[in-house]
Amino acid sequence: MAGSPDETHFGFESVPLGEKQARVDEVFHSVARRYDLMNDLMSGGLHRAWKDALVTAVNPPKGDAPFKLLDLAGGTGDIAFRVVKAGGAGTTATVCDINADMLTVGAERAIARGLDDRVTFEEGNAEELPYPDRSFDCVTIAFGIRNVPRIARALAEAHRVLRLGGRFLCLEFSSVDVPGLEALYELYSFKLIPAIGQAVTGDRAAYQYLVESIRKFPKPKAFAAMMEEAGFRRVSFTPMTGGVVALHSGWKL
Ligand SMILES: C[S@@+](CC[C@H](N)C(=O)[O-])C[C@H]1O[C@@H](n2cnc3c(N)ncnc32)[C@H](O)[C@@H]1O
Repeated sequence: MAGSPDETHFGFESVPLGEKQARVDEVFHSVARRYDLMNDLMSGGLHRAWKDALVTAVNPPKGDAPFKLLDLAGGTGDIAFRVVKAGGAGTTATVCDINADMLTVGAERAIARGLDDRVTFEEGNAEELPYPDRSFDCVTIAFGIRNVPRIARALAEAHRVLRLGGRFLCLEFSSVDVPGLEALYELYSFKLIPAIGQAVTGDRAAYQYLVESIRKFPKPKAFAAMMEEAGFRRVSFTPMTGGVVALHSGWKL
């Protein structure tokens, strides 16, 4: 985190805590329509495998048993669609995101896929969730938590709305820890990603923010400690693709 408790990072820039959310909202307002295409281009399709690993961990019931997922910072609905497809008729998902533009794209995709009866899109801030205590069986957040200004608050809220015995899963970019891959990843991140972002969305700054925010996000062990601080138990993490991303898991017990 940045120097003073009232400051945080927007990419490499130190900004007042109260300013970060508006800057993040601008980024996702700008890229919403091209967001899904950019995910495929930037990750070479790898984000699909990472998301599949998350869905496998969610493990929704195959039958009619009710199972309620909350996908935080769920944007255009990717995780929610995958979970309801993996689950049985009782599996439903709520996508909660602070950005109306991302949610609009997601709601259109849900209709196109015939999943709008099982996936709902709601505007909300991960730091202050509009849901009662213990109302979901599972809470997920994918590539979202590093955008939230007060991470500890979002973790505490995820814990609050989860039922006893429920699982929290967080998929996020992490720290590459394979010698050789590190330098290549650095080059790819700082040279290629902003250029692809410029070419596809016309917004280089949004993708510069993306790569910088990844570097500023806590290392996997530090993030696991933050989850424990928020009340999660049996916290663990699994690095994937040489540490490009990590899947953190914790239970409300
Ligand atoms: C990189 S996108 C991830 C979208 C989706 N989870 C996925 O994996 O494709 C990050 C999302 O976080 C959302 N976000 C940022 N700050 C948030 C907050 N405080 N509360 C809820 N959502 C937030 C953004 O609007 C954006 O849709």
